[in-house]
Amino acid sequence: MTFVYKADPVRGEIWARLFARKAPGLEFRMWPDSGDPAAVRYLAAWLTPPDLAVFPNLELLFCVGAGVDQLDLATVPRSIPVVRMVEPGLVGGMVEYVTLATLAVHRDWLAYVEQQRQRKWQALPVLTPATRRVGVMGLGVLGKAVLEKLRGFGFPCAGWSRSPRVLEGIECFAGGGELNAFLARTDILVCLLPLTEATRGILDRRLFDALPRGATLINVGRGGHLVQADLLRALDDGRLGTAILDVTDPEPLPANDPLWTHPNVVITPHIASETQPETAVDAVLDNIRRHRLGEPLVGRVDREQGY
Ligand code: GLV
Repeated sequence: MTFVYKADPVRGEIWARLFARKAPGLEFRMWPDSGDPAAVRYLAAWLTPPDLAVFPNLELLFCVGAGVDQLDLATVPRSIPVVRMVEPGLVGGMVEYVTLATLAVHRDWLAYVEQQRQRKWQALPVLTPATRRVGVMGLGVLGKAVLEKLRGFGFPCAGWSRSPRVLEGIECFAGGGELNAFLARTDILVCLLPLTEATRGILDRRLFDALPRGATLINVGRGGHLVQADLLRALDDGRLGTAILDVTDPEPLPANDPLWTHPNVVITPHIASETQPETAVDAVLDNIRRHRLGEPLVGRVDREQGY
């Protein structure tokens, strides 16, 4: 029985050592060295291989990331469950990044970096968290963990999701009908949605117009959520104050892209959070055990919804 890993080879070496220790009975191989294709039961990938039919006995496809939009799901037979990554390392990293970005905006960090460049010693008013309303789009494992942390600082927190949710201490909004009410009360907007046909381009001019003037956008979803021309327009006319973008479309962001030099934009190269091998391997092995026992899988992708 073989487990094939098809993603970043440097991290793959760590996966290999962890598999050798935690699941010695399972043969671990790194793509493209898959051994006997008929023995391959499990595949973990960032991008699907060109032809999955080479593994006639494949039972499970694991995505090594939290988002699965980059997999070509159309090429994956419906009979093979697809599992996205749900593991504490990835959650922790995302909580860190969004907290960092939110506090940087809340405490005017970007303005102070600029002031330092100008050798300008000037205090800006310090506002309390109670005056800064945070809203998270996407209430999956990551969105919920981010809200939980930010709520602890005292930011009034709200969440928006496709279907209604109830979360303690979080004002929850759902569906297209409640989107504008959610946006109208959101000073710092965090996008943690999955990228699907329903959410592609959702961060557009209409959405920015529904936010309070000077709001912040933190995009840690996917570059495809954002209509970049609308963002630049919203920043230039003051509708938006700041954008912190960990994802772009395309990636890497081309060197001549105007986002690079915009004074109100912070770009990071898709590093908000990374799957951590130690905890990821535990999550994968737990799902393999569940699969063998016929138990529900953690993070199973709903093929209709696309996430
Ligand atoms: C990274 O973007 C992921 O989906 O985990």
